[in-house]
Amino acid sequence: MSTAATATPPTGIASIGLHLPPLSMPVTELAPLRGQDPMKYTHGLGCETMSLCPPDYGVVELATEAARRAIARWGGDTERIGMLAVGTETAVDMSRPLSAWVADRLGLKGAVRSYEVKHACYGGTLALRQAAEWRLSGAAQDQAALVVAADVALYEPGDPGEPTQGAGAVAMVIDEPRVASIDPVSYAWSEPEFDFWRPIGDSYPSVDGALSLDCYKRAAENCFKALVGKRNPEEVLSELAAICFHVPFPKMVRKAVDQIGEFFGFGAERIEQLYADKVSPTMVWNRLCGNAYTASLWISVANALEGLAVGQRVAAFSYGSGFGAELLMLESGTEASAGIWAKDIEADLTAREQLDGAAYTRLRAQDDGKTILAEEIGLDVATSRFGKASSR
Ligand code: CAA
Repeated sequence: MSTAATATPPTGIASIGLHLPPLSMPVTELAPLRGQDPMKYTHGLGCETMSLCPPDYGVVELATEAARRAIARWGGDTERIGMLAVGTETAVDMSRPLSAWVADRLGLKGAVRSYEVKHACYGGTLALRQAAEWRLSGAAQDQAALVVAADVALYEPGDPGEPTQGAGAVAMVIDEPRVASIDPVSYAWSEPEFDFWRPIGDSYPSVDGALSLDCYKRAAENCFKALVGKRNPEEVLSELAAICFHVPFPKMVRKAVDQIGEFFGFGAERIEQLYADKVSPTMVWNRLCGNAYTASLWISVANALEGLAVGQRVAAFSYGSGFGAELLMLESGTEASAGIWAKDIEADLTAREQLDGAAYTRLRAQDDGKTILAEEIGLDVATSRFGKASSR
């Protein structure tokens, strides 16, 4: 191995691919089904539309399509992909990693370290950090990594979390930092808690909603405190073009910004301005797809990077229940301004079909073991470009 091969290669996000599933429903359709005021969901939680998966369409399809898009945009030789790391909390098997399903469909095999990462919504970020650190260590010998964050976030019908549901996937090739470089230094915080968990065999998560909010805010405060250190917080924040958060639902992010602002001694007006200028605009796509667990933060980051000039800095706060959090710093590269990956979201939003409350109820009936055909929920499989793909 030559010295040149082990030198630290330029490292960051070389390409991004996104994918949202083919169904959606506005949260205002859910509210009457659950006897709630729609304003609770739209204003109280800040939610707008949920992404939903039709029968036989799931995390494998989401992850694979996002990966396919990221690889096509990267344009490199897939022989150079030496790592495939998939972050998810929608595992399809307790042993076989989701990456094996993705690799199978993409035809990736051979000298590839392929694995799944689980840490609730933090798993995708961990996969990305591992990929970046693998390259920065020199061990990658200039191979590239394919990182995917993909999830289907469903709650039990009637659960308070139901209006926050969603689904989506983000894939990133970690190679030369054409889209964004990733700072080697990041700011982590973890504490063992039972705020949100899914015991083996359970279809839906168990949630201590109030505790989960407290944990998220505490993690955010500690990560931003570490970022600022002994510097003036205003000076640090002024260096950021955008501040992205994991988005369980937009109001949660607002609460975290309140807590961070108050910790730094900001008044209500300054916090409002910070949120409006640097945080809220990054959640445009999140509002249209709902919570996508591991993918949520990276949907927000993809949105924030689109249109940035070279050298602009973006903060990315990742949170996973249990809990672990990490604040990453990115810097936009030459391909950020074109933001070509926005086309993925535009195409998927245009293609997706909107359910009403009745169709949603029929869709969820399959969770009770009833077999539901795509036609029964109003999905026209004859014209659907997705057809009836199986996850297994
Ligand atoms: N009009 C306007 N606003 C209304 C309203 C109305 N008619 N009725 C209620 N509201 C407001 C409430 O005042 C409240 O606002 P504030 O928090 O600002 O006071 C808001 O709507 C929500 O009301 P509740 O607190 O009563 O909501 P809830 O108990 O029904 O559910 C939740 C809220 C706990 C967050 C629920 O969405 C949940 O369990 N979510 C899953 C867990 C989660 O997302 N946790 C976030 C951190 S953990 C994490 O990040 C991992 C992850 O992705 C899941």
